[in-house]
Amino acid sequence: MNMGQTKKPSAQKEHVIDLFREHVSSGKAAFFRKYGMDFVMGRREGPYLWDMDGNKRLLNLHCNGGVFNLGHRNSELIDLLRESLTEIDMGNHHLISKERAYLARLIAELMPSDLDFTVFGVGGGEAIDLAFKVARAYTGRTKIISALGGYHGHTGLALAAGDEKYRKPFGPQAPGFLQVPFGNSEALAAVADRDTAAVILETVPATLGIVIPPEGYLRSVREYCDREGIVLILDEVQTGLGRTGKLWAFEHFDIEPDIVVLGKGLSGGLYPISATVMRKPLESVFHQDPFIHISTFGGSEVGCRIARRVLELYSEPEFLNNVNKLADHFAEGIEALRTRHNRFLLGLRRLGLMMGLELRDQLSGPILTKTAYDHDLLMVYANNDPSVCQLLPPLILEPEQVDRVMEKLDGALASARRLRPVAKIKSKIDHLLGK
Ligand SMILES: Cc1ncc(COP(=O)(O)O)c(C=O)c1O
Repeated sequence: MNMGQTKKPSAQKEHVIDLFREHVSSGKAAFFRKYGMDFVMGRREGPYLWDMDGNKRLLNLHCNGGVFNLGHRNSELIDLLRESLTEIDMGNHHLISKERAYLARLIAELMPSDLDFTVFGVGGGEAIDLAFKVARAYTGRTKIISALGGYHGHTGLALAAGDEKYRKPFGPQAPGFLQVPFGNSEALAAVADRDTAAVILETVPATLGIVIPPEGYLRSVREYCDREGIVLILDEVQTGLGRTGKLWAFEHFDIEPDIVVLGKGLSGGLYPISATVMRKPLESVFHQDPFIHISTFGGSEVGCRIARRVLELYSEPEFLNNVNKLADHFAEGIEALRTRHNRFLLGLRRLGLMMGLELRDQLSGPILTKTAYDHDLLMVYANNDPSVCQLLPPLILEPEQVDRVMEKLDGALASARRLRPVAKIKSKIDHLLGK
């Protein structure tokens, strides 16, 4: 199926879309219909997902930011989940848990220095909120500094550390949050003071457009935080777990954070789980009242089993070698496409398989997202810089599949180049009409 010429949806699919419109999100239903992208997830396997009618198959090049690093429905993990359910359930968050203990020990073994303690959550935002709470309690200070255009989730404190557009309609923001441009350690030092508890950064900000930290930046932030007694939190919700060709992205920059936040891929795409991993001294904030922070579903025991196996898979040396080989394969292919489409595709940002296509302008990311969809590729532009299309393929692709991606992407780029002038005129008309 090509160029958006999808077959007429079945009555059953229309029914699902109607229900979704009436009971889940009328806005999303209208949006996807408007752009001819009303795909309803049906079968899914490895790097692919099919529309529920079976008429269209997409290759997942976004992976929900890393949730599907191992592809969809990894058979080993499914077997493990089934087997776990013959024995255990979510567990009880009040009690001592073998599953949480084993998983936390494995994380500690895989982390450097004394990043020894883990508190589990359900999602990334919740784990970020906890990181801020720990930093504030430990330092006795209030301010949290984050990067402009960064993204850490939609929960209370995480939202306050993110872009203004996501919080504006929702009333006053939590106090004590400041933002500075990513990549500029002087700007950070200019706003930090004796009341600064933490600096939080995505090691490679994804929603800002896969921005690779400039040479020396993270090192100088680390040194500054050390000097000023500020807790350095790295959000590795997207960059962790092998995505960048190392198990943790911060390993590329020769630094060690005080807190690392993990999510998405830890779930194996099957069972939600997140983790706030902290250096040993920071755990002291829970000594007085160990029950001061709880999460009923956080660190569910079946989720812990899955996450443990996920970590074992990621930390096999062959696994990361393969990620790096695939990353080189992608880079070669994209470079060839860049020479063919050099006025539209300007460059590639990349650290391992954490990649961003630099495009001509802010219209180009949304257009390429649509034409890629028409060419059976699921890609998503970076919300806080739509001139970049995020490219986060599953880490388990076969080399032949990369070649197929390049052929399809070639077609998608050619269509996007054709569509751009029309879209530009249309966006001007929409603007004039106040749409
Ligand atoms: C870098 C980063 N941090 C945190 C989050 C929040 O995770 P969740 O949606 O699981 O709350 C996300 C989600 O996209 C993310 O990309």
